[in-house]
Amino acid sequence: MAIHWITEENEKRIDALLAEMTLEEKIGQMRQPGPSLVGAFEVSFEELLDMRFDGKISDEEFQKMMSSVKMDYREEEVKAGKVGSFNGVSGAETVNAIQENALQSRHKIPLLFGMDVIHGYKTVYPIPLALAGSFEPELYRRAAEMAAEEASAAGVHWTYAPMVDVARDARWGRISEGAGEDTYLASVFAVHTVQGFQGEDISDGKHIIACAKHFAAYGGAEAGRDYNTIDISEQKLREVYLPPFEAAIKAGVGTLMPAFNDISGVPCSVNHQLLTEILRDEWGFEGFLISDANAIDECVNHGIAEDRKDAARQSVLAGMDMDMSSDCFFQNLEQLVKEGKVAEAEIDQAVRRILRLKFALGLVDQPIRTNTEREQETMLKPEFRALAREAAEKSIVLLKNENEALPLAGGKTLALIGALAADGEQMLGAWAMGGDGEACVSVKAALEAARQPFTWISGRKEDGSVDSEGIRTLCGQADIVLVAAGEQKEESGEAASRGELSLHPEDRDILRLVKESGKKSVLLLFNGRPLVLTEEVELVDAILECWHPGTEAGNAIVNILTGKVNPSAKITASFPAAVGQCPIYYNHTSTGRPAGKGKFTSKYLDIPVEPLYPFGYGLSYTSYEYADLKAEIREEAFQIEVTVKNTGERAGEEAVQIYLQDVAASRVRPVKELKAFEKVALEAGEQRKLCFTIPVAEMGFYSAGAVAAKPARIVESGLFRVYAGGNSRDTLCTEISYAEL
Ligand code: NOJ
Repeated sequence: MAIHWITEENEKRIDALLAEMTLEEKIGQMRQPGPSLVGAFEVSFEELLDMRFDGKISDEEFQKMMSSVKMDYREEEVKAGKVGSFNGVSGAETVNAIQENALQSRHKIPLLFGMDVIHGYKTVYPIPLALAGSFEPELYRRAAEMAAEEASAAGVHWTYAPMVDVARDARWGRISEGAGEDTYLASVFAVHTVQGFQGEDISDGKHIIACAKHFAAYGGAEAGRDYNTIDISEQKLREVYLPPFEAAIKAGVGTLMPAFNDISGVPCSVNHQLLTEILRDEWGFEGFLISDANAIDECVNHGIAEDRKDAARQSVLAGMDMDMSSDCFFQNLEQLVKEGKVAEAEIDQAVRRILRLKFALGLVDQPIRTNTEREQETMLKPEFRALAREAAEKSIVLLKNENEALPLAGGKTLALIGALAADGEQMLGAWAMGGDGEACVSVKAALEAARQPFTWISGRKEDGSVDSEGIRTLCGQADIVLVAAGEQKEESGEAASRGELSLHPEDRDILRLVKESGKKSVLLLFNGRPLVLTEEVELVDAILECWHPGTEAGNAIVNILTGKVNPSAKITASFPAAVGQCPIYYNHTSTGRPAGKGKFTSKYLDIPVEPLYPFGYGLSYTSYEYADLKAEIREEAFQIEVTVKNTGERAGEEAVQIYLQDVAASRVRPVKELKAFEKVALEAGEQRKLCFTIPVAEMGFYSAGAVAAKPARIVESGLFRVYAGGNSRDTLCTEISYAEL
């Protein structure tokens, strides 16, 4: 299924073009600006944003300035062949008009329109962290495919997704954009999302080019602070952070985006080992690299380049092909070639890679690929909404359910508290640029549509303080109280790191008031990252982790609340018991003194060492029992069997998880690693034997660097533990020895 970007015919067409293009035109292909903003202000847009955040201008003043601004789509530059791609521009009419300008350039090379289509375009699916928890690869694929259909109808050719960064620190706001803390799951997510976006025929007009980002280790940002440094061993880089990228490449991903951060002192944007040695020489990547926004220029801030020109030189020589936003390439490459500091062959190579994708997409032969009619017909189609609902239902995690709080019993008086319950727009979550907030269904709207009697209050007064009286009165009249709380959509995603992971104090006060009322309560959480819920857990009877579930949020939640749908999702990032545990992840390496009762073990004096909820955890309205775990080695693979039984009274779906541990190896190994999973549907009382085949090679790792000059991937014989369960903590275990043939 993987796309091959190199074809003999297209390479010949590229040869012919390169022979005709001037150096300036070639450099134009490597340039991706956004539209420039012209008009109202004398400072740059970034400075203006800073002024707004620093409070130097009010929101109102900012909006006023923005409303008098016009977009300049760089008509003259486009006609002169000085632009290769645009960022963040969509809409059939606008895109086609700009494309007509490109067709007036000497070689008529169309522009590639890229955009962040992360979890949907107009129809928005759950944030990736949530969707990953469905443990359904086919769902990952379908959501990406439908997003591609909408985005392509709006003129978008290329998305900067999937984000395949392994993220183990919930303080990092971008944990919301990926599959969570596990490398294997992130790899499965990468493969299916890439396949969904790109389809089997990238030129069919309904699919878009994908971009695996951020290459690499961006999720390892020190202290969970966005854009922060990462200092890791090559082994950890290769075992934890790189596999999802390699998997995406094997699945045929067309582009990669190097990360903002440095790795052990070398920013990814100028990292030759990463961008050329690993990516091209080892993995044979055929597509092209787009820098992250302004990242080449930021190499000056990193202190790795003296100035923008030096940054351009280092980046292009490291293997970067296209410059997003900074214009370092556009302003400096010609001079660098003239000075002999960059060979024209380097430029040709980058341009070849970019043109390769334009040809493969069919863009050169059919530059105008959509129109307003198609665009209008495609947005928010019923089947997209149906998928958005299914995806949300399969992403919402039941974290706690006691005192028969859920599903809601009929005939009870329902109270709903919290602004988030009535705000459809907030359901979009981070990175939903094209998303239609008005089309989003809030919980309140969905309850109304379901003709479920209830009373809603925001729980806040006009000044934002808690409306204690209103809450007490409402609780007095209700049998069961639903409280919606968590994070606004801006509180996760890029540049949204947090040092505290608790609910906001007012939301906690609301929960305390509800608890005081003695009424049954359900916490509906909306958030883009694991939160610390240690206190909340004691305050409510049930917790439904809804994440930011997208367009069909309310409908999906109501289906779960009423029991029409049985929750089946699991969390894919550990929920810390205290923020001081971060980073926390189930697959940490073994220590010499594992946490235990003794003083001198690896733990804290003041907080627990275990997370509140471990990776893979999630409840259901039914229960499952695991039995008869067996393992043997056949054909160089672990052959594993386990029987899973639905022991409750409802049909349900369970994500069965298989973990392995290399008990003793020449390098310290993780205590457990997810190596396979399967979602299985079981009727009440039904049981099924599941079989898994995991090649022994999957347990390979990188040798100790201190001994060999370069770590090499090895597989060692010896004792292995096999675990099976419904989460990473509560598992059955068996042992098996592997002796190399
Ligand atoms: C910066 C982000 O890091 C990246 O993920 C995104 O694709 C670009 N900006 C473009 O918006």
